[in-house]
Amino acid sequence: MAVLNVNIDHVATVRQARLTDEPDPVWAAAQCELAGANGITVHLRQDRRHICDRDVRLLKDTVASKLNLEMSMAEPIVKIAEQIRPDQVTLVPEKRAELTTEGGLDCDRYKRRLAQVVKRMHKKGILVSTFIAPDKAQIAASAETGCDAVELHTGMYANAKSERAIKRRLAQLVSGKDFALENNLIVHAGHGLTYRNIAPVAAIRNLCEFNIGHSIVARAVLVGIRQATAQMIELINRYTNQD
Ligand code: PXP
Repeated sequence: MAVLNVNIDHVATVRQARLTDEPDPVWAAAQCELAGANGITVHLRQDRRHICDRDVRLLKDTVASKLNLEMSMAEPIVKIAEQIRPDQVTLVPEKRAELTTEGGLDCDRYKRRLAQVVKRMHKKGILVSTFIAPDKAQIAASAETGCDAVELHTGMYANAKSERAIKRRLAQLVSGKDFALENNLIVHAGHGLTYRNIAPVAAIRNLCEFNIGHSIVARAVLVGIRQATAQMIELINRYTNQD
């Protein structure tokens, strides 16, 4: 059955809007866990626009479930991951000017670097997932370099407008998931998932973990993060094939 990691980056975005000390993502993480989240996801960006080093350090000490650190393969960030040792890293591409992660990591192109990072993470006992388009070459490169999991990018599905486009994107996610499983990879999914569009993705068999951020934090502003998390878990459970 698929489980939820709440991405709490945008709790930190609100804090950073005033460069103050509230709301604290560490408090938010505890609330998400109390609501039943399987894990907490944060992206330590090179520009530190939301999550800061202090957040990751404290979360490492306080998260009782699973801490998933999203990060680029830039050397200073890889070093931080080696020091902090989250349970899992999800490797993402990163551009300074982007609003959020755009596109997946080109694992095929950066295979050498990826293999090095995987080796270093494994040495510290950290699981490695790559955030990729549901594309055979990217999945194969993730498997070849020794990754444990892939996170299939659901952004193209989330942005699809017509019924036909939505079906096509879902079919790509299903075949990507099947190919990843054939390659002995665990399969996660995330990006752009909301309370409105989660159902068909949750219904895909053998997706193991969802990383969802913006939609949950947006709802949390109105209903509180514990309730917002619980509502997303309820939807995932309702639509996940439970056999
Ligand atoms: N997965 C990855 C790899 C991401 O980069 C992000 C955004 O930080 C998410 C999931 C969550 O996306 P969203 O905020 O759209 O739910």
